[in-house]
Amino acid sequence: MFNEISSEMKARMHFLEQIDASDRKDGTDRMNRLRQIPPETGKFIALMASQCPRGDIVEIGTSAGYSTMWLSLAAKELQTKVRTFELLPEKAALARETFILSGIESLVVLTEGDALMHLSALDDIAFCFIDCEKAMYEACWNIVADKILPRGVLIADNAINHYDALQSMIEKVMADDRFDSIIVPIGKGELVCRRKMSV
Ligand SMILES: C[S@@+](CC[C@H](N)C(=O)[O-])C[C@H]1O[C@@H](n2cnc3c(N)ncnc32)[C@H](O)[C@@H]1O
Repeated sequence: MFNEISSEMKARMHFLEQIDASDRKDGTDRMNRLRQIPPETGKFIALMASQCPRGDIVEIGTSAGYSTMWLSLAAKELQTKVRTFELLPEKAALARETFILSGIESLVVLTEGDALMHLSALDDIAFCFIDCEKAMYEACWNIVADKILPRGVLIADNAINHYDALQSMIEKVMADDRFDSIIVPIGKGELVCRRKMSV
């Protein structure tokens, strides 16, 4: 997958990485920052998603579409789509630009608005990436957990750098018998949950 990233996608990834890096230094306010995952997390979620059974790839928190580009690599392999959700119109507009410029429009369905209003309509989720406001993680889990296919995977970002804010959600997930879960120390810490075969 990684050797086949198009020059157009590489250029857009580089462009967004530069904006994200300067956002973090120049005092851009939190809502306007892109707050992207680092490239190693991008590779990790793409690899994990590519091993899932065939079904939808779901992303909660698109921002400018950086992580979506990584997930699109797995979507292409699995011949499926990334269904991604973004609340803010300005970020959704940037994401649309990303999908056009990187040539992945046909692999992505972007929904603009509050993801919590739309997640219930999903079914047969092969892979879900949660990367939105920390206060929403548990509500997202409550809606999507039972929609994850057997051998499907859910990954939640910031499980180490925002452990305190996510502690109750993480403890709930770890105690859930339907899943095998672990926190992986890559990027900001990824909570990885794989749905068991038989539940
Ligand atoms: C950490 S950023 C996502 C970064 C992105 N996953 C990436 O790595 O490129 C979180 C995003 O979630 C969005 N968000 C916050 N609340 C949301 C909601 N209720 N529904 C959908 N998106 C939301 C924010 O506007 C922000 O763009």
